Amino acid sequence: MKTMPLSVKVNGETKEWSIAPGDLLLDVLRREGYFGVKRGCEKGECGACTVLLDGKPVNSCLVFAAQVEGRAILTIEGLAPANGLDPLQKAFLDHGAVQCGFCTPGMILTAKALLDRKPHPTEAEVRDAMAGNYCRCTGYKKPVEAVLAVAEQKNGASRRPKAGTLCR
Ligand code: FES
Ligand code: FES
Repeated sequence: MKTMPLSVKVNGETKEWSIAPGDLLLDVLRREGYFGVKRGCEKGECGACTVLLDGKPVNSCLVFAAQVEGRAILTIEGLAPANGLDPLQKAFLDHGAVQCGFCTPGMILTAKALLDRKPHPTEAEVRDAMAGNYCRCTGYKKPVEAVLAVAEQKNGASRRPKAGTLCR
């Protein structure tokens, strides 16, 4: 089988892999152990395979691995800090937005991209951003609440006066 080299940054680490020209990114990531990238419909419809490619959500089942040469990928495995959870992961747990968890990595990565681009989205904007992530368990109310809660935390932090600006 014909192979080609692939150099890509995954979760901040440079990876050098050998791929076939027709390999899908979904297949390569799972083959390399990134099992948070879920195999769902494989047609670009469910969002379970979502990863961030240079900060933007993509369905990895629709991307050839060869297309990501030299680019940066974030999977759910790379989201949390070394000891703890990302605020979105914590909010999903706190709001009961996870049942089987199959859709959760994709939802959280989509939400991260949204909040990075737009820290204070409206509920409609959250629903619109997550429209491509299907959940067969919880529905969408709780995930949307979780994302809005993180946005609200950020909002509170940005409205808090800087140290030294009170009591003068
Ligand atoms: S598995 Fe890629 S969108 Fe469903
Ligand atoms: S939590 Fe099961 S598919 Fe969403």
